[in-house]
Amino acid sequence: MLQSYFYVYSIMILEKGDFMNSVFLRLNNNEVNFVKDEKVNSLVNELKLKGILPIEDLKYIIENISISESRNLFKLADMVKNQYYGNKVYLRALIEVSNYCKQGCFYCGINRDNKSIKRYRLTEDEVFEAVKKAYDLGYRTFVLQGGDDPFLNDDIISSILVKIKTAFPQTRITLSLGEKTQASYDKLKLAGADRYLLRHETASFKHYMYLHPQDMLYDNRIKCLHYLRSSKYQVGTGMMIGSPYQTVDTLVSDLMFLYKFQPEMIGIGPFIHHHDTKFKDHSDGGLYETLIMISLARIIVPKALIPATTALGSIVEGGRELALKAGANVLMPNLGPEEQRELYKIYDNKITTSDSDIVFKNKLEKKLINEGHAVDYSVGDHIDLEGVKL
Ligand code: 5AD
Repeated sequence: MLQSYFYVYSIMILEKGDFMNSVFLRLNNNEVNFVKDEKVNSLVNELKLKGILPIEDLKYIIENISISESRNLFKLADMVKNQYYGNKVYLRALIEVSNYCKQGCFYCGINRDNKSIKRYRLTEDEVFEAVKKAYDLGYRTFVLQGGDDPFLNDDIISSILVKIKTAFPQTRITLSLGEKTQASYDKLKLAGADRYLLRHETASFKHYMYLHPQDMLYDNRIKCLHYLRSSKYQVGTGMMIGSPYQTVDTLVSDLMFLYKFQPEMIGIGPFIHHHDTKFKDHSDGGLYETLIMISLARIIVPKALIPATTALGSIVEGGRELALKAGANVLMPNLGPEEQRELYKIYDNKITTSDSDIVFKNKLEKKLINEGHAVDYSVGDHIDLEGVKL
């Protein structure tokens, strides 16, 4: 099943010629598919044994892996995931609370300089209603994600957190609301937040500068991740694959960073251009490149919770399903109010569903079970935290 999936997609993608400009050199040309490189396979096996490899070896894997070796990597990553989490796929309800943003990330469609989009912000009641609806559908983790919206200050967010946790004490709340001070992170943790997603975006100082305006500092991003850790959150980080100016060295730095930081969650998705941004003419990240990085991340941080991201499902239909067979074990369906889902467009062609939440839920469950997964609606903490009082 897995084999045939990958075969069909390889052919489809090779025909589309999507491998242009990839730093994964052997995914770049058509001859690749069937030429084997045993050194890649043996390095990947060694990575699994040791947890990490020297920079040069990671670089070798990225530059020499072809579709053929990637299948071996995906299988290995799937085994590592199974070892800790079995065949469970954890479901989280994603609620996009605001698309106002004070930051100017060059890749992102809701950045402060985009004057052509309609901005929205959910009220406390709207957030609560969305959470309640998700709870009634069975979800026990709610991910409140938004732009870096100054209006959503600590008091406002805390009030929402308290309201949710009072009504639904046995649940988890994940925040994804950008860079804050240690004091703010502490306050929000105390009010009921359990987890925080803040992608590092790239572990290269220089690359970070190419992706962000001068008032956004790499050091602050990393500092925030350390704040979150010391405020006792389950911390998620991650990066886009195929972002403009990414190189094999920046990707290796990302892997090294993940190894050093050992985040509880890792979000990896392809870069997708947005027509209103400075990067509108840059090409999108590829499916295989992203799957390979997900698998490497799984092997390097074996116990991480790794989502199959919406971005991956947006570049190729079935992209998320492939990720769930290559090391990912989380899905985050959008359960915010339907009217606003269209407005949270961080990149072009972001997928949305026209199904109602209940129809979507039934279809999704059926599909996952068909593919050999167990659907899990529990709080789904990181394995080291299970049973620990948060
Ligand atoms: N393509 C893909 N991912 C993007 N993100 C933001 N803009 C884009 C884009 N154009 C990702 C960033 C951010 C997360 C919320 O979404 O990595 O951290």
